[in-house]
Amino acid sequence: MLAQLQALLRGHPWADNSQYFDSIDSTNSYAKKLAADGAAEGTVIIAGRQTGGRGRLGRSFSSPAGMGIYMSVILRPHCLPEEVMHLTCAAGVAACWAIESATDSCPRIKWTNDLVLGKRKLGGILTEISVNPHTRTVDWAVVGIGINCCQQPQDFPADIRGMACSLGIDQPSIPLLAAALVTEICRMRDMLFRNQAELMKEFSQRCVTIGQEISILRGDEVSHATAVSVELDGGLQVVYPDGRTETITSGEVSIRGMYGYL
Ligand code: BTN
Repeated sequence: MLAQLQALLRGHPWADNSQYFDSIDSTNSYAKKLAADGAAEGTVIIAGRQTGGRGRLGRSFSSPAGMGIYMSVILRPHCLPEEVMHLTCAAGVAACWAIESATDSCPRIKWTNDLVLGKRKLGGILTEISVNPHTRTVDWAVVGIGINCCQQPQDFPADIRGMACSLGIDQPSIPLLAAALVTEICRMRDMLFRNQAELMKEFSQRCVTIGQEISILRGDEVSHATAVSVELDGGLQVVYPDGRTETITSGEVSIRGMYGYL
């Protein structure tokens, strides 16, 4: 896998910065250790399977052997954390570009970090950052991307079978998609600040949440609203039935009709 990936990326500035593991607990956890030890921007960790794949909000990410892409990329944006709030959205856009360039699928994004095909989850993004307490700037950001590639419905754990899907590609196509992913994450990194508005416009165009009736779960509290738009920093603007508006930056947002939510 690593040799194929490096061959496909020959000449790319990140080509020689990759590490491959047949099995690892979580590429994000490992990338975080490397980042803390000083690994360079563009270091890519990829695994054949994860035994402890992690998702947003403390969830797990099913990562069976040879069935998907489990990748983490170390970035070092030198900025304040509040200036990089849109990174997860931007990484989602880059993942869509990669999937479109390497397969016949056209994924969309459920705010904030789920890649979707139709009404099912295809994968997700998990961004983790570390802030230097002295300078208050971002030391490193790890962008983790998980994409279901080869699974048939019976390959998913029973609890997510009704809401998950895969690209339906064969195993030999995985390195091609992985190389496209590295290329597009690197392109997104170049655009992150210079072309923020363009990236976020792309995000909005792909975002299935906008215009939908949603429920917002924060702690034990559930509220209902309509999603209106996504702001430049990735916040989701919503309007409540009483006309109040709010920008949501965290929590779980469910869309009626998706992932079994009625
Ligand atoms: C989500 O669904 O909330 C995000 C899923 C992110 C999964 C990827 S797989 C590679 C990287 N390593 C992890 O442990 N998680 C991310």
